Amino acid sequence: MIKYVKVDGSFDLTGRSAIVVGGAGGIGEATARMYAKKGAKVAIVDCKDTCDEIAQAVAEEYGVQTIGVKCDVTSQESVDAMMEAVVGAFGEVNILAAMPGFVDLYRATDIDIEIIEKHININAIGVFRVAKAVANQMIAQGNGGKIVCVTSQADFIAINKHVGYTMSKAALVGMIKVCALEWAEYGINVNGVAPTVVNTYMGEKAWQGKVKTDMIEKIPAHRFAETDEIAAAVLFLSCDESNMITGEDLVVDGGFTIY
Ligand SMILES: NC(=O)c1ccc[n+]([C@@H]2O[C@H](COP(=O)([O-])OP(=O)(O)OC[C@H]3O[C@@H](n4cnc5c(N)ncnc54)[C@H](O)[C@@H]3O)[C@@H](O)[C@H]2O)c1
Repeated sequence: MIKYVKVDGSFDLTGRSAIVVGGAGGIGEATARMYAKKGAKVAIVDCKDTCDEIAQAVAEEYGVQTIGVKCDVTSQESVDAMMEAVVGAFGEVNILAAMPGFVDLYRATDIDIEIIEKHININAIGVFRVAKAVANQMIAQGNGGKIVCVTSQADFIAINKHVGYTMSKAALVGMIKVCALEWAEYGINVNGVAPTVVNTYMGEKAWQGKVKTDMIEKIPAHRFAETDEIAAAVLFLSCDESNMITGEDLVVDGGFTIY
């Protein structure tokens, strides 16, 4: 059962332990900072070398315990070691924000199968690997928890040259729904946040020049999203204010998928 907790709109996370996978990326760091501001202990997890540095900066700014753990979500050994490090440091895990991301754009007639597999291995199976490990930890703790995965507007609409990315994010949405169904009895919410283009490394890699200006024209808000706007949605799905929401994929797209 997912518990009813009386909420007051404060989105408080005091005393909770959170893992942010993709935490050295644009949306990940913004999420880690927002969690820390709301009082959570935060593990910055990413395959980049900068996890420790970001963890230290977040700890200094918000006065919460943090840890940086380098981890590749495509490796079970790496994810197991990450879980051991986080549980060792914090004692428990209450929140997972999973947003490791890979994109490489080709038309469907030209893309190599290896590139399709890489998308799926990182964006779908990699996220599942971490979600499964965290859910088992939460079930053992017996006090529920929150899992939020960053999906994409590509879940809802077809985007040119996004076949590998879209296949991976569609698989992720399927995972979110099944895990939400199976893990509700343990008090675990599983949701997605589906952004439009966000001003990050990945956003800039995929959207440049005319493709970028055409896209901005099509978004009713007439701009791309900023990282804090996505982090705010992730925060909402990570606190008690959203206890009655599970299996959802919350679109944050400035209206792009209205059509
Ligand atoms: N930026 C956008 O336009 C946009 C739009 C929709 C969805 N998203 C999604 O948002 C999430 C965050 O992306 P971002 O925009 O912050 O981009 P980003 O490139 O800044 O961050 C992605 C992070 O994932 C990490 N990562 C990649 N492979 C990994 C692996 N194997 N193991 C561990 N970490 C790995 C990268 O090192 C990077 O830090 C991604 O899942 C992405 O698909 C982004």
